[in-house]
Amino acid sequence: MVTTAVAPTNIATLKYWGKNPAWEEYHIPTKSSLSFTVDGLYTKTTVQAKKGSGNVEFNLNRKVITPEMKEYEYVGDFLKKVGAIYPFLNSYDYEIVSENNFPTAAGFASSASGFAALIKAIAGEVKELAFAKGNDRKLSALARLGSGSATRSIPSKGGFVVWERGISPDDKRTPENVSQEEKEKIIDSSYSETLVEPDAWQELRIIYVKVKEEEKKVKSRAGMKTSVATSQFYKAWVEYEENEMKGKMVNAVRQKDFGLFAELTMKASNNLHSICLNTYPPISYLNETSWKIINMVHDINEGEVKAAYTYDAGPNAVVFTLGKHEGEVKGALAEVVGKENLFATRMGRGPYYTDNHLF
Ligand code: PMV
Repeated sequence: MVTTAVAPTNIATLKYWGKNPAWEEYHIPTKSSLSFTVDGLYTKTTVQAKKGSGNVEFNLNRKVITPEMKEYEYVGDFLKKVGAIYPFLNSYDYEIVSENNFPTAAGFASSASGFAALIKAIAGEVKELAFAKGNDRKLSALARLGSGSATRSIPSKGGFVVWERGISPDDKRTPENVSQEEKEKIIDSSYSETLVEPDAWQELRIIYVKVKEEEKKVKSRAGMKTSVATSQFYKAWVEYEENEMKGKMVNAVRQKDFGLFAELTMKASNNLHSICLNTYPPISYLNETSWKIINMVHDINEGEVKAAYTYDAGPNAVVFTLGKHEGEVKGALAEVVGKENLFATRMGRGPYYTDNHLF
């Protein structure tokens, strides 16, 4: 058989930055995060699984990926992790062909859509994993083992998504001191689901702003680990965002209160980059152009809140606005980066299967 899945990327408004040290192996985060599923930026992946011993052939964006390449290592590590939980997966060979549609104007794309499409395709292809196919909670917990942000690209309805952290970092339970049954329950307790469907806030616009195409200097995986270990503010940040900001942001989106949503989103982005600076050695992802956009957005917002920025582990911005302000906000952004570096879209649906295979 051959199975093809298409999965969208997502952009976090409340950020994930760090794994719970006791549950690091299972990529359980220290805190919950929130994101929008993004329309028009996706990965399409076709998988063929045949009885074998875990061999992988991988083709990405029409290029053969060989075992010494880092993309091969990421996919191999992911299959190893999922295979440790479901050993039947190790008795197949996989042929994987994957394509990203990211327009160059969107800048550097995340691994979220890649791992989401891969696990969705595998769940459709391997019959023993069929139980996870229509179970978004289960599938999102598995996508998590590829990259944390992939968890949020799994809910089928897409839209505004929460990734619940599950076990708190203050909880004393560890994989070593609980029963196998409890361990599995805890691993499954960190999953994503849709809170607001894409049609519920049609006025919302999501603008990708390419500042620089260069690959990030400190990879998120390594950066967040150092933050957990060294930032003195880390615990306070986790508690504040988990207990104060999360509920407020969810309500703001449910009520389509753009002013409040925008303020919380910008603060959450600033909080992440403060944690990065407070890491030792410090991590700095924003460059001069990123700061120009931050200042420009605050200027535009004087009087009425019309836009909000957010930044991940790099200098590229994502700016939120409403349809009625889109022209003005794009105009102001174009003055900073040029209009060829803008890609405007909306909230979108989640991943799905298609018969339109890549081979
Ligand atoms: O899923 P990863 O390992 O690529 O980490 C993503 C981290 C951020 O993009 C910076 C924040 C987030 O929540 O997406």
